[in-house]
Amino acid sequence: MLIISLVVIAVLSPVSTFDPSWGSLDNRPLPEWYDDAKVGILIHWGVYSVPAYVSEWFWWLWEVRENPKVTKFMRAHYPPFWTYADFARDFTAEFFEPNEWAKMFRDSGAKYVVMTAKHHDGYTLWPSMYSHNWNALEVGPKRDLVGDLAFAVRSYGLKFGVYYSLYEWYNPQWLEDKKNNFGTFYYSQCKVQAELHDLVSRYSPDIIWSDGDLAPETYWNSTNFLAWLYKEKANTVVNDRWGSGTLCKHGDFFTCGNGFTPGIEFPHKFENVFSLDDSSFGYRRELDPVNVMSIENLLEKIVTTVACNGNVLINIGARSDGVIPLIFQERLEQMGQWFKTNAEAIHGTRPWMNVRDTVSPEIWFTQKTSVIYAFMRTWPESGTDEPYRLTIGTVNSSVVPQVSKVVLLNTPLVNLKHTLSALGLTIELPKLSPDYSARWVWVLRIQC
Ligand SMILES: *[C@@H]1O[C@H](CO)[C@@H](O)[C@H](O)[C@H]1NC(C)=O
Ligand SMILES: *[C@@H]1O[C@H](CO)[C@@H](O)[C@H](O)[C@H]1NC(C)=O
Repeated sequence: MLIISLVVIAVLSPVSTFDPSWGSLDNRPLPEWYDDAKVGILIHWGVYSVPAYVSEWFWWLWEVRENPKVTKFMRAHYPPFWTYADFARDFTAEFFEPNEWAKMFRDSGAKYVVMTAKHHDGYTLWPSMYSHNWNALEVGPKRDLVGDLAFAVRSYGLKFGVYYSLYEWYNPQWLEDKKNNFGTFYYSQCKVQAELHDLVSRYSPDIIWSDGDLAPETYWNSTNFLAWLYKEKANTVVNDRWGSGTLCKHGDFFTCGNGFTPGIEFPHKFENVFSLDDSSFGYRRELDPVNVMSIENLLEKIVTTVACNGNVLINIGARSDGVIPLIFQERLEQMGQWFKTNAEAIHGTRPWMNVRDTVSPEIWFTQKTSVIYAFMRTWPESGTDEPYRLTIGTVNSSVVPQVSKVVLLNTPLVNLKHTLSALGLTIELPKLSPDYSARWVWVLRIQC
């Protein structure tokens, strides 16, 4: 009976429609799955993964910037008339196993995956009919990489999104429109709008992660596209890169640039996008392990972002043969170890009234109904027989009437000795056993 009435309500509720204006689009409630998911993986993969040197901006660094490293590399290793397009045939992806990728992502604790369907070089990882001879089915892997990964990722229970670069460095139609001060629309209509609609109808992406919006939103026709998208796909979310001036202003979630960490509770849902390699999103063969984010720093980013109302989008670069470099695999595997016992403190949580503590400022918080999670990034020095007492000032008797239970996740879940007063919550931490596995960030579950 309950089920039947829910179905009736769902059928009778009006289809949401939106006007092609930000005033209307900004009223759309955020689809809840995105707020619950908290952690996504971004994959940079494409023709730039073949030279795999310096960064995914290789072509631009070579031709526009005449970057000395890239220029020297090309002179030393390639014949004089070699073009960027000549790399495409070596984008082979012969070891690409979409199910193995999807399993690795699911086991890492991530809940969604975003893939570069097209980067600024214009090469599409799906068989776009608007990118003749410059797509993964026709040159390189000879397969639909977007379709194959979308299917695998979803069969492992994750959401699937596409990264899509609006502009293309050297597309002649784009350059023509730009020359005309965006008074003509050859490229935005016949290429971008056509491809965005194609992506939506083929793969129903759960996220459209737009980038490279280096023109007015009226040129991209963004509000018309989004009004259409919101009507067609009730659960698809988009970021904030839809034309000059939209960043940090419009969209389901804000990115406000890369690596955004407000440090306070941010009033709008945001996403902190960063790469495990601190100087490139694409895979580069000269990568030094010291440039790869440590698991401690990765977890710190997750905690401090989620506490402030954000999601993290963690980027990795894949190799041209379809292998994910081992050091990125290792980091995802470590993240998965941590999530195995601490996931409840991240997934499905919301920011608490304080993002971090005053008395112990190294402590950050999230919450669920009548539960506060406190994250500790350091464990107190041992060497004393006294039990270590942690005081959390912002959990005090003036904001929570009582604390019934405090446990440390991933240990035998005993109720730790604690006292609540007007000055805060003081907890006696246990001695840790040496086999304690999730040692990078500890989580206290405080039940009110
Ligand atoms: C923008 O999109 C609308 C709706 O699809 C369409 O009618 C209009 O021609 C488009 N304008 C431009 C400049 O592309
Ligand atoms: C008690 O908690 C509230 C809210 O977290 C905070 O504003 C206040 O400063 C706390 N009191 C003390 C003594 O820290």
